[in-house]
Amino acid sequence: MQSFIITGTDTGIGKTVASAMLTQALGTNYWKPVQSGIEGMVDARVVQKLTALPDDRFLPESYVLSEPLSPHRAAELDRVEIDMNRLIPPASERRLIIEGAGGLMVPITRNNLQINMFKSWDIPLILCARTGLGTINHTLLSIEALWNRQMKIHGLLFIGEENRDNIKTIAEYSGVKVLGRLPLLVELNAANLQQAFSENFKAEDFA
Ligand SMILES: Nc1ncnc2c1ncn2[C@@H]1O[C@H](COP(=O)(O)OP(=O)(O)O)[C@@H](O)[C@H]1O
Ligand SMILES: [Mg+2]
Repeated sequence: MQSFIITGTDTGIGKTVASAMLTQALGTNYWKPVQSGIEGMVDARVVQKLTALPDDRFLPESYVLSEPLSPHRAAELDRVEIDMNRLIPPASERRLIIEGAGGLMVPITRNNLQINMFKSWDIPLILCARTGLGTINHTLLSIEALWNRQMKIHGLLFIGEENRDNIKTIAEYSGVKVLGRLPLLVELNAANLQQAFSENFKAEDFA
């Protein structure tokens, strides 16, 4: 069964909200391998709050680190040594939505970038990107990094207000499939996320 890695061009672009939409719409489980930052709600709890899905749809993180920093640094501050061998997608009865930390080139340790961890898993990636100014550069750079490593890009998932030319330009330069655009929702809840998926995405694109 096909799982997906949800990555993005940056932190704070809407990966968690997009992951909530997909976990609900595709009926998957959700896993966040490394959670950096525990003040407020961790990403798994945000997804659970947004979807109201039961506990068994959420697999425990491999590492939960205190500070909202890149995992390599947050681990150092917590005096935790991240063992890459423990960072393997867990067995799951359902497909997995795996939400990465920040963007692709985030270091997990002092000698392992997240993108290389994803490569070793051999699971297709969904690259989330903003729609606004700056996204053409960030998105094409991320795609090039994935291509350089011969990694499978399942598609692009845009988040934000409509910007047809940015999306068209990225699609034309890269040839990567655009899965859809998740608009900014005034109220984030399960019903609105389900509606956003139905209106802007095709379930068969994730089969
Ligand atoms: N589609 C959306 N509609 C409304 N607010 C959103 C949407 N996507 C993200 N946000 C808000 O933007 C912020 C960052 O989103 P988040 O999903 O946590 O980003 P990331 O996981 O990439 O760090 C959050 O406050 C979130 O509620
Ligand atoms: Mg997140």
